[in-house]
Amino acid sequence: MRTGVWLVGARGSVATTSIVGALALRSGLTAPIGCVTELPQVRGPALPSFSDLVFGGHDPVLTPLAKRAEALAAAGVVPGRLVAALADDLAVVEDDIRPAPSGGTPAERVARVVADLADFRRRHDLDRVVVVNVSATEPVVTPHPAHADPAALAAALDGPDEVLPPSSLYAYAAFTADCPYVDFTPSTGARLPALAALATHRGLPYAGHDGKTGETLVKSVLAPMFAMRNLQVRSWSGINLLGGGDGATLADPAANAAKVESKQRVLGETLGYHPQGDTRIDYVEELGDFKTAWDLVTFAGFLGTGMRLEFTWHGCDSALAAPLVLDLARITAAAHAAGASGPLADLAFFFKDPLDAATHSLGEQWTRLCGFVAGLHAAAGGTDAQAG
Ligand SMILES: NC(=O)c1ccc[n+]([C@@H]2O[C@H](COP(=O)([O-])OP(=O)(O)OC[C@H]3O[C@@H](n4cnc5c(N)ncnc54)[C@H](O)[C@@H]3O)[C@@H](O)[C@H]2O)c1
Repeated sequence: MRTGVWLVGARGSVATTSIVGALALRSGLTAPIGCVTELPQVRGPALPSFSDLVFGGHDPVLTPLAKRAEALAAAGVVPGRLVAALADDLAVVEDDIRPAPSGGTPAERVARVVADLADFRRRHDLDRVVVVNVSATEPVVTPHPAHADPAALAAALDGPDEVLPPSSLYAYAAFTADCPYVDFTPSTGARLPALAALATHRGLPYAGHDGKTGETLVKSVLAPMFAMRNLQVRSWSGINLLGGGDGATLADPAANAAKVESKQRVLGETLGYHPQGDTRIDYVEELGDFKTAWDLVTFAGFLGTGMRLEFTWHGCDSALAAPLVLDLARITAAAHAAGASGPLADLAFFFKDPLDAATHSLGEQWTRLCGFVAGLHAAAGGTDAQAG
């Protein structure tokens, strides 16, 4: 199943790490550590293999992909020996990265993206293209009446107003070009009624939002523990320190607010109440792609006895995110091939702020994911585990 993976933000840290990783896996130069789709409970015949994946994307910056990969190697995010060994493969992907459209009306920019996607699919003879948003986090969207209805939205896009943020413009273009869409960021993406209606009308699946890779991943394991033991969480405060492009973007208060909102949802929805405390994200340039999260939880047990838990997480953000980007592209492609349409709520396992989430508990999300993927494998004509 030849599958295009179109990365919005193709020259960013997460995108570059995903591309380097997929090329290395295809060439057998590395092991699939961190790839959920390579676990025995998930792998199988429905998923495109790493060799089936073809990469392209949009980005406004022009820094060559090889230079971005070298910078990530220098920062210790990816091994330098892989970047050197994959120079020719990276040059091939470079040819499929297009400048992010700018200027003109939103409708003209959508048409540009649709044309780029169609061209990519035709040139590589792809069965399908999954569009994955890994671009810079946007501020929370300003509501607009046209967000409610596809016809009103189409009319508004023809005008001069910026009726959609870029993540939603890409989602609109993806659906128009018959591509499934995954939002790995906290941005608005497909989370507007008009876009949900468009996806359903065109029979396309979509997934999101905001990859769960660090502090929130740990929260989604610990919060259900407190709930199941009927312990009362009194406060939960977290501080995240990070650098890199994502950290620089999140230094902007509007983008920061969108991310913090996404990170805090797990607690209220798992515990059924909101403990005191906030999550903070601070930009520390020196840390680059490595993030430190420190959380302090105070809680009460039997007879109100007060206790506390602290944890510190030191993660390499892009190395945690990239295998999930590959997992999501593979599973979403399989879901599309099986005829799935609308929000893929069963992929909540991957996200901080999942679409239509029935639960934020990682354990329950894992069970749902395994059941969903087993159904895809059964529909693809086999349930035997096989290497992807
Ligand atoms: N790394 C993680 O663990 C993790 C987890 C969850 C979510 N995310 C999200 O993934 C996204 C990418 O993170 P990153 O570390 O790669 O950031 P980054 O800053 O390195 O990369 C973002 C890229 O998006 C590009 N971009 C900006 N506007 C664009 C547009 N209109 N069209 C196309 N491209 C555009 C930028 O030029 C840049 O190359 C962020 O939104 C981040 O919040 C990351």
